[in-house]
Amino acid sequence: MAPPSLSHRGRPEGVQDMAKQRDRWAELTGGQTGEEYARRFAQLAESGHDIHGEAAFCAALLKPAARILDAGCGTGRIAIRLAELGHHCTGVDVDLSMLAVARRNAPTQHWLHGDLACLDSLGLEPGFDLALAAGNVIPLLAPGTEPAVVRQLAAVLRPGGLLITGMGLDAEHLPLPEPPVSLTEFDHWCAQAGLTLRQRFATWDGDPYHQGGGYAVSVHARPID
Ligand SMILES: C[S@@+](CC[C@H](N)C(=O)[O-])C[C@H]1O[C@@H](n2cnc3c(N)ncnc32)[C@H](O)[C@@H]1O
Repeated sequence: MAPPSLSHRGRPEGVQDMAKQRDRWAELTGGQTGEEYARRFAQLAESGHDIHGEAAFCAALLKPAARILDAGCGTGRIAIRLAELGHHCTGVDVDLSMLAVARRNAPTQHWLHGDLACLDSLGLEPGFDLALAAGNVIPLLAPGTEPAVVRQLAAVLRPGGLLITGMGLDAEHLPLPEPPVSLTEFDHWCAQAGLTLRQRFATWDGDPYHQGGGYAVSVHARPID
């Protein structure tokens, strides 16, 4: 009998599924911090900070009404703003405490509970104009699932559709002691998923990115067939 195929972590494939690792966000928060997260952004807004930079960045690249997948939507901060700007947004998140806030604040919007590594099990109609993974979603995924998530996000885009990500690359820009993902790795996963890097910035305001910077906003595109 042939030996079972080994995953990249050295476990037989089925065993890896059973011993599924939690995402780094759940490790950090216990999946209970939706209200606190929302309160933090509400306080920032009250003190005059712009909390809609990500939405403004995306809206500048799209014509309404675009179809947007907010991957790791959290409390819906960005998807709700994009809907106010005339777009059709679907939010997906695995943390029910975050989704509860989104559902309460925008009950008529489309929110799905699910794991981005299994996006294809959620029955989404492909053809999205944009998949957004803002707020350090990529570095906060479960270790080892990042290439699969990038592949799943690429698969729901229409030809010409965009994947926009924002991620910290050092401890100052992450809720983690060390960056788990480098830009080189991330670009490699995107290339494997058939995406090409179109633009990269240092902030959601569009400041230029310089090699070695601590934060990157990346715009990858699915080529037009
Ligand atoms: C720091 S929060 C950012 C939330 C939102 N994007 C924002 O910017 O306000 C990171 C989010 O990624 C979500 N997340 C992490 N891994 C995930 C996965 N495998 N599937 C779905 N969501 C995930 C977490 O549950 C969490 O809500």
